[in-house]
Amino acid sequence: MEYRNLGNSGLKVSVICLGAMTFTEKGWRTAGTMDFSEIKRVVDYALDNGINFFDTADIYAFGESEELLGKALGNKKNDVIIATKVRGVMDEKDPNNRGLSRYHIFRSVDNSLKRLGRDYIDLYQLHWWDNHTPIEETLEALNDLIRMGKIRYIGISDFAGWQIARSVSIQEMKNYTKFVSAQMYYSLLGRDIEFEVVPACEALGLGILAWSPLAGGFLTGKYSKDSPHPEDSRYSRMERPFLRFDFEKGYFIIDELKKIAEKYNATVSQVALNWVKSKSFISSVIIGVRSLEQLKDNLGCVRWDLSQEDVEYLDQITQSERPYPQWFLDLFADL
Ligand SMILES: NC(=O)c1ccc[n+]([C@@H]2O[C@H](COP(=O)([O-])OP(=O)(O)OC[C@H]3O[C@@H](n4cnc5c(N)ncnc54)[C@H](OP(=O)(O)O)[C@@H]3O)[C@@H](O)[C@H]2O)c1
Repeated sequence: MEYRNLGNSGLKVSVICLGAMTFTEKGWRTAGTMDFSEIKRVVDYALDNGINFFDTADIYAFGESEELLGKALGNKKNDVIIATKVRGVMDEKDPNNRGLSRYHIFRSVDNSLKRLGRDYIDLYQLHWWDNHTPIEETLEALNDLIRMGKIRYIGISDFAGWQIARSVSIQEMKNYTKFVSAQMYYSLLGRDIEFEVVPACEALGLGILAWSPLAGGFLTGKYSKDSPHPEDSRYSRMERPFLRFDFEKGYFIIDELKKIAEKYNATVSQVALNWVKSKSFISSVIIGVRSLEQLKDNLGCVRWDLSQEDVEYLDQITQSERPYPQWFLDLFADL
């Protein structure tokens, strides 16, 4: 297993992180579920194969994912890096049980600690921006929690480039502890972050944690033009896909991935994951599985690397037009 620094921090995380969103179906039913004995087998296999990094969130099944992760890690839970998140709506009827207010963050951190069975959280992430709370209030609360020893590192998730830049500038001005990571959607079918978010993170020292690197399972080889709805798969269970991408382009890319996989005697998932981890801005790739078998397949990606030529070919067939102002700035980059 390869370990990378989490952004500009000294913390080493495995290049593959195990996501706990699919541990239970409450909350996001269509993502699927596993029973506890399978979760335990998955977590044990992950630990035995060098994964030291686990990601969850308070809203994954309203806390159940955090509880199951803590329980499955058992007496190993203080020897690994656990990331969780705050921001989502934990109670529809309570206007203060959501968002990034000081009140909600302080309450949430204690609830997450209880569910995980831990005294501190290694990486505490803002799940997404809160339009109803001044970011200054949020950043001060995070800084205080670090001083109190309840959280060790902080990160964001699903922020726009300007939101990252604004937050880190305030942290610098106030001499607060800065964000070290940005958890963002990134896959061969979703490269949007390359335009604004990645340059912001590179300039400010945040490492990217890529979520849904297989585009929710689409890039595993089980979907094809002839078999768009394989049995018991996420996209067959969903009425409307959560991730947005062009399915026609997706099927073409899957065909190309199959050819590359054959060359390496590997699987489609391993090629797709290898492409994500080939990027220097990636600190870790957050995978999701619904069985030990899927984890075994996906973890095979750490045993080999794509050649530079194959990375470039995949870059080329999945790239999209650079939006304005990037194409304009490109014209004058050397002047
Ligand atoms: N910050 C955010 O906003 C955010 C959002 C989403 C996720 N996340 C994080 O990212 C993690 C991963 O997300 P994800 O589950 O969408 O990731 P993903 O790796 O893109 O998709 C995982 C799904 O693909 C299918 N799959 C995986 N490996 C397979 C294999 N080898 N063969 C066949 N099918 C396979 C399984 O679904 P089926 O078997 O059901 O088809 C599995 O649940 C989550 O657990 C969470 O920690 C964060």
